[in-house]
Amino acid sequence: MIYRYETVQKNYEDLASGRVLYNAHGTTSFPVRLASEILQRCFGILESKGVKAPYSIYDPCCGGAYLLTTAGLLHGDKLSSVYASDINSDVLQIAEQNLSLLSAGGLHQRKEQIKEYIRLYDKASHKEALISADKLSGNLSLTSIGKVSVFPHDITNASPGSELPHAVNIVITDLPYGDIVTWKSESENPLTEFFEHVYEHLAAAQSVLAVIADKKQKLQHEKFKRIDLSKAGKRQFAIFEPIKS
Ligand SMILES: C[S@@+](CC[C@H](N)C(=O)[O-])C[C@H]1O[C@@H](n2cnc3c(N)ncnc32)[C@H](O)[C@@H]1O
Repeated sequence: MIYRYETVQKNYEDLASGRVLYNAHGTTSFPVRLASEILQRCFGILESKGVKAPYSIYDPCCGGAYLLTTAGLLHGDKLSSVYASDINSDVLQIAEQNLSLLSAGGLHQRKEQIKEYIRLYDKASHKEALISADKLSGNLSLTSIGKVSVFPHDITNASPGSELPHAVNIVITDLPYGDIVTWKSESENPLTEFFEHVYEHLAAAQSVLAVIADKKQKLQHEKFKRIDLSKAGKRQFAIFEPIKS
């Protein structure tokens, strides 16, 4: 894959899972460079349609919200509201903690927690985490994120309905596929159901859907026009526009 936006490999250690961002059993992280590239492709598509930032964003399989939190910390100046849901309510507490880092209050609280760890254990890793947290505070100075919402939801069973606005600008998700997380669904075809239910919250002229998966899952659906398909290491991702009559 050729990176169009994140053309230079940077050091993303400030965003490492478990450093300032929280992690826990059952949650996964995501390559930051790739997340930023995909998100900027989504911004580019929306801008080319005349839809200006800031944008609403939703991850229907959010896990611990690592992807959304890094998106918000890197591109908070282009985002207005962040929605996150997952079928596994156990991970949603981590999602809430991570997404709290998108506000000055949440990041301040995390810094105080890290300072307490430094007082208690005097470890180099905690001192480094505090330096990272200070740097991330700088990122927040330009943020336009005004709303964050986290809720439990099975995206293969129904659309989120009133939990979400009628039309979200960007739906982005890293589908379940690995050893840690697999689809949990009563449907025999969870991927098709996923497309059906996110479709209801997308508007033709002002929305895009970005789906990241392993290379086995077939990223296509009759209600969507695929406008980008790329391979990145063990993953593939596709960006779609909803087809609306
Ligand atoms: C690869 S992880 C996503 C990780 C997330 N993007 C992050 O950055 O932390 C996939 C997630 O899909 C969730 N999942 C599985 N089946 C689901 C369903 N039917 N509806 C919603 N989420 C589901 C799993 O619980 C898991 O948290």
